[in-house]
Amino acid sequence: MGHINNTPEPVVAIVVAAGSGSRLGAEVPKALVPVAGVPLLARAVTQLAAGGVTEVVVVAPAEGRQAFMDALADAPIPVLWADGGAERQHSVAHGLAMLPDLPEADAEHQVVLVHDAARAFLPADMVARVVEAVRGGADAVVPVIPVTDSVRELVDDGSTVVDRARLRAVQTPQGFRRGVIEEAHRILAETETIVTDDAAAAEYIGCTVTLVDGSRDAFKVTEPLDLVLAEALVASGGTA
Ligand code: CTP
Ligand code: MG
Repeated sequence: MGHINNTPEPVVAIVVAAGSGSRLGAEVPKALVPVAGVPLLARAVTQLAAGGVTEVVVVAPAEGRQAFMDALADAPIPVLWADGGAERQHSVAHGLAMLPDLPEADAEHQVVLVHDAARAFLPADMVARVVEAVRGGADAVVPVIPVTDSVRELVDDGSTVVDRARLRAVQTPQGFRRGVIEEAHRILAETETIVTDDAAAAEYIGCTVTLVDGSRDAFKVTEPLDLVLAEALVASGGTA
């Protein structure tokens, strides 16, 4: 698979893979579940590399690390490791702490992506779009897709229709300048604030969030039905 983004500046991705996968209910950790024989984590790292990522920090459970290392034995880019935290946000923070030191001026501008291992089928061009938007000066970049279901919001005395055309579903990888995402997580930790994703973390410190096109292929493997879709996607010669 060709690399879409061949620029020399490093692009680091933090890949969070330390969740329990309770909704999937598999016998192995979700990130290690194979699709057509290849674990989700390995697929995610391969796609990130194809989109221009040059190094990953994989955040995995502290116990059972060897199986995660085995899954990435043939990774196309260098892999660093961090221990998972209680919440996804803590796992991201642990990953940020493992980023290699750089001279301050370089670190401030380094492109850092944060990605869910469970979104294993992300297209390379989507990764490249996120990287390019950060390089273009955006503080925080989020890939989004339209919402296809009609949506209702629960209110005190029933429910009310929501204008679907104005809604977007949020995916990963989300992209940041390193200075932004490090500062955001530092302030969240200091104020003991929990947010739902990293874009919300950046917003919390006053950054503007830039949207780029995501992809249906970057769906998050969450429930057993998602594995049926995943196998079919690979069999049809889709993204992966
Ligand atoms: N994640 C993590 N650390 C946590 C929780 C989640 O690294 N404490 C990661 C998961 O491994 C996953 C991503 O965050 O790649 C998105 O989370 P989700 O899809 O909810 O995965 P799980 O939390 O593992 O699944 P579930 O909520 O069904 O238990
Ligand atoms: Mg979860």
